[in-house]
Amino acid sequence: MTQEFYKEAIQHPIFKLIGETSQELDTDSFVIGGFVRDYLLKRGTPKDIDIVVIGNGIELAKKVASKLKGKPQVSIFKNFGTAMIKYQELELEFVGARKESYHHDSRKPVVEDGSLEDDQNRRDFTINAMAFSLNQSSYGQLLDPFDGLGDLEKKLIRTPLEPGITYSDDPLRMMRAIRFATQLDFTIELKSLQSITENKDRIKIISKERIVDELHKIILSKKPSIGFKLLHQTGLLPIILPELTALQGIEEIEGQRHKDNFWHTLEVVDNISENTDDLWLRWAALLHDIGKAPTKRFHKKIGWTFHAHEFVGSKMVYKLFKRLRMPLNDKMKFVQKMVLMSSRPIVLSEDHITDSAVRRLVFDAGEYVEDLMTLCEADITTKNPRKQRKYKNNFQIVRKKIVEVEERDHVRNFQPPVSGEEIMQVFNLKPSKEIGIIKEAIKEAILEGEIPNEYEAAYQFMLDKGKKMNLKIS
Ligand code: CTP
Repeated sequence: MTQEFYKEAIQHPIFKLIGETSQELDTDSFVIGGFVRDYLLKRGTPKDIDIVVIGNGIELAKKVASKLKGKPQVSIFKNFGTAMIKYQELELEFVGARKESYHHDSRKPVVEDGSLEDDQNRRDFTINAMAFSLNQSSYGQLLDPFDGLGDLEKKLIRTPLEPGITYSDDPLRMMRAIRFATQLDFTIELKSLQSITENKDRIKIISKERIVDELHKIILSKKPSIGFKLLHQTGLLPIILPELTALQGIEEIEGQRHKDNFWHTLEVVDNISENTDDLWLRWAALLHDIGKAPTKRFHKKIGWTFHAHEFVGSKMVYKLFKRLRMPLNDKMKFVQKMVLMSSRPIVLSEDHITDSAVRRLVFDAGEYVEDLMTLCEADITTKNPRKQRKYKNNFQIVRKKIVEVEERDHVRNFQPPVSGEEIMQVFNLKPSKEIGIIKEAIKEAILEGEIPNEYEAAYQFMLDKGKKMNLKIS
């Protein structure tokens, strides 16, 4: 056992208090898990702190809380034998050390009290099983029975026990291994990776919410592709996100090939992650091409097509969110909108970039037009430097034009300059389809740049349009 001390890690007075209080209860306590790992990785001192007690975690939590200023509330989770205190910016979770064994067909463990080592044995990874002592005689000592410290240096994800045991105890750990490998840019030990592959189907017993939590963390990492490659390699991806797996592969007919849309997508997600931390925009990048698998066709004359893949893809977003029990709210609608519009700026930039096309883009994308541009710029994955320069340059032009058009025409949150009521009054109409026709014609004229987005011009246009429709001015 190492004899290293990290007193500076546990300088916060709360640690001293916990140590003293557990001594009063004639027991020992330790900080364990993410706090220790992140401290040793120099990722700072996390605000989520896990305390393991050799004894009753709930009792210790209650006693600690009673000594704290303001006597914070203790939330007790009886089923898990844990207790939580929110104190200042900290979230302290207390748990009694456990020795657990699981039944193979369920995740409900049979829990027994255990020693610190028993508890460390049942944790997920060596780097998460390290503890700092809070006990007077060994205050700050690192307790690291599986050489987690060595694994931090080697940048290795390794399980304390045989991987098969650790993963089948809690199959979510397969996702956690991949998530930590992605966040920390670590390697998963080979036998662990093999074990994940063997146990992949057990992910099905895990709740969708917990899986999605891990997916979010992978997506929010600096380089999400690391995680998606591992999910792919272990066979977890087709279980969780079959829509992405379906994009893999290149087909060739009569010498015509299309690109591999799976690997392309991963590049797009990495690209966008350099420019945004927005979780949902990153999801949009991940899903922007999912409609390509079901719409793929080969035509003798034109080669491979993915007709209406954006529309099909946006419908698939709904099904995917529903299946994964993700929120079917504005966030989902945003992802759908991005997928639906994902080719618009590209088509536009390939052509001569006209004001009216830009105006239509701003009108349709509304407040999300910048996000859409960020997505489309990330979508440029060509390895041809000349083409890359050309596309980037074209998008710069589109961006510039968006600003110009916006300043002049204000179509982003378009409000019709002439109201339906006014049209009814002028032509003495009851509610009828004529009003809709005139309103639509005014909108089209503005978007086409035939008239400015102003009241006077729109009013005159309305009069002319009414005349052509043989309407009488009242
Ligand atoms: N743990 C585990 N198996 C799990 C989840 C958690 O063994 N399926 C243990 C690990 O020791 C982990 C600790 O519980 O370090 C706390 O878990 P959690 O708060 O979920 O993760 P952290 O390691 O703190 O990391 P993060 O905050 O990044 O999720």
